[in-house]
Amino acid sequence: MAEPTPDAWRRVDAYLTETLVGHDPDLDKAVAEQHAAGLPAIEVAPVSGKLLHLLARISGARRVLEIGTLGAYSTIWMARGIPEGGVVVTIEAEPAIAAIARANIDRAGVGDKVEIRVGRGEDVLPTLEAPILAGDVPRFDLVFIDADKESNTIYLDWAARLGHPGTVVVVDNIGRGGEVANPATTASHVIGTQRGLEMLGRDPRFDATALQTLDLKGWDGVAIALVTDAAAMPSAD
Ligand SMILES: C[S@@+](CC[C@H](N)C(=O)[O-])C[C@H]1O[C@@H](n2cnc3c(N)ncnc32)[C@H](O)[C@@H]1O
Repeated sequence: MAEPTPDAWRRVDAYLTETLVGHDPDLDKAVAEQHAAGLPAIEVAPVSGKLLHLLARISGARRVLEIGTLGAYSTIWMARGIPEGGVVVTIEAEPAIAAIARANIDRAGVGDKVEIRVGRGEDVLPTLEAPILAGDVPRFDLVFIDADKESNTIYLDWAARLGHPGTVVVVDNIGRGGEVANPATTASHVIGTQRGLEMLGRDPRFDATALQTLDLKGWDGVAIALVTDAAAMPSAD
């Protein structure tokens, strides 16, 4: 058996990517454009992009909410997993990054399925509630949280409020190279990740698990939660 060294797990990731994911010119171009613009290579790995795509299809999602767009690599994967008439609402704090994402989304042919909301998640998320409460648009079926980790508990709260029992919630980067299990960490992004996981563990609106991942992005992980019936109960406040 091979030792789980970085070389070995990258070789396995490449094998799985070649065998199960393959290459898509629009997705490859989206990443290339993002890198050419000087944005960091912090998009999800191809195997995780395909996971998001499959979760959209498995859950029958029509409305997807993403927090953290970057160059729209994950956005395009999810947009391709929802039917015509469905929408991915994706939130990006930086206008210049949102412009790159828009170009990538349009080139990939999913422009009519994606709405980019430019602003901080904390500010944009409350604006999504009124149209839902008014019955103008349905609730979200799938939520992907992949922005500033310090705000994960805020994003999870909104995921429950804007979702419905049965909504699937995915939180990226929950392993952080093993740091997530360090109770003495002082890194704010790790503490934010820990707070989010603790919320998923105790908040009755969620039923969750998490998987560690070893891929070309290193040692990290993903949490996957289901919004439960408790989310439909009137809140105490
Ligand atoms: C990890 S990247 C997203 C990667 C993308 N989901 C993918 O896999 O292709 C995080 C993005 O969130 C954005 N971001 C950071 N803080 C944010 C905030 N408070 N609100 C909205 N977006 C934020 C960053 O500008 C960055 O583009």
